[in-house]
Amino acid sequence: MKRPETPPRPILVRALAGEATSRAPFWFMRQAGRYLPEYRAIRATAPDFVAFCLDPEKACEVTLQPLRRFGMDAAILFADILLVPHALGAGVAFKAGEGPVLEPVRDAASVARLEQGLSGAAHALAPVYETVARVRAALDPEKTLIGFAGSPWTVATYMVEGGGGHDFMRVRGLAQREPDVFQGLVDLLVDATIAYLGRQAEAGADALQLFDTWSGVLPAAGFERWVVAPTARIVKALRARHPGVPIIGFPRGAGTNLKRYAEATRVDAIGLDAGVAPAWAASELPRHACLQGNLDPLLVALGGEAMDTAARGILHAWRDRAFVFNLGHGITPDVPVANVERLSAMLREWRREEAP
Ligand code: CP3
Repeated sequence: MKRPETPPRPILVRALAGEATSRAPFWFMRQAGRYLPEYRAIRATAPDFVAFCLDPEKACEVTLQPLRRFGMDAAILFADILLVPHALGAGVAFKAGEGPVLEPVRDAASVARLEQGLSGAAHALAPVYETVARVRAALDPEKTLIGFAGSPWTVATYMVEGGGGHDFMRVRGLAQREPDVFQGLVDLLVDATIAYLGRQAEAGADALQLFDTWSGVLPAAGFERWVVAPTARIVKALRARHPGVPIIGFPRGAGTNLKRYAEATRVDAIGLDAGVAPAWAASELPRHACLQGNLDPLLVALGGEAMDTAARGILHAWRDRAFVFNLGHGITPDVPVANVERLSAMLREWRREEAP
């Protein structure tokens, strides 16, 4: 007797589960953003960036925009990693031309104040879960919805520096001089992130990504304590509650620490920046981890043969492994739409069995 048909799992979820899919599933970090005229048009109606992120109707629309043009296999929730400190009461503001500004957290009293915000934070982010639910309802069942958060270390860099860092001396100094105070901040962010990502999964996110943009500024011992350990706690807690929701870790700039990260955190997939040689990743990173990455966004800005050749190099290097094609970092505002179209067309057509 024929069993009732269950819908096949989306290609990107199959790749994250370790399947060497026949086609290359792809999405691009910052695929929604200022390089798209339709994004700029909606953004112009919402001068305050945090309010924009917390407007489910607008956030849903900009989440879907890139898929209409390029047919990516995944939509990534439109939000920002700084919404968690915003919800904890860290006074986040985005200033035009300046980037994010936050009230600096540099002592035990400031951490204690933020701890008061923890119980209300997951609730303050309710508009984000509504965006997730709206996007999931509007999205083709074959497409994956990726929810995300920043990793505790990267979010903490913005909180301690009071904005984007350059040399990260303040946050590294605090972690070194007052490890107990800094541990308190990281513990708070671990708890807030578990609650936030859990709610995204409940609202309909099919996969989750942890962005650790600044993991590369830490020496090995700091990387272990402030990147690996908190990430492992988040992965363990989410996997216990949402075993069917794969987790992608993106420890940017981790270099030789990538192996340790993949082994110790047990993320389902590991996001690679453009500094990692694709052939090295294929042979050295543990087989249990799906690879994701890692075309240099500069090449997407330049386009042409240089972009095609580098993209084909990644596809070739990873032909024997499960992978998700992506960039090594986010699309920049200067990227021509035509280049993203050209790259997407190549990826839609590539087939593993025909690859040389
Ligand atoms: O399309 C997507 O990738 C989803 C949306 C998304 C945004 N930010 C929207 C955004 C995601 C996944 C992020 C993550 C994020 N935010 C990171 C980690 C990834 C990375 O890029 O390293 C970080 C470090 C941030 C913090 C942040 N947000 C900064 C430093 C800035 C200002 C710098 C800049 O690019 O303008 C932002 C603003 C921001 N977040 C924009 C977008 C589309 C641009 C704001 C605008 O429209 O004016």
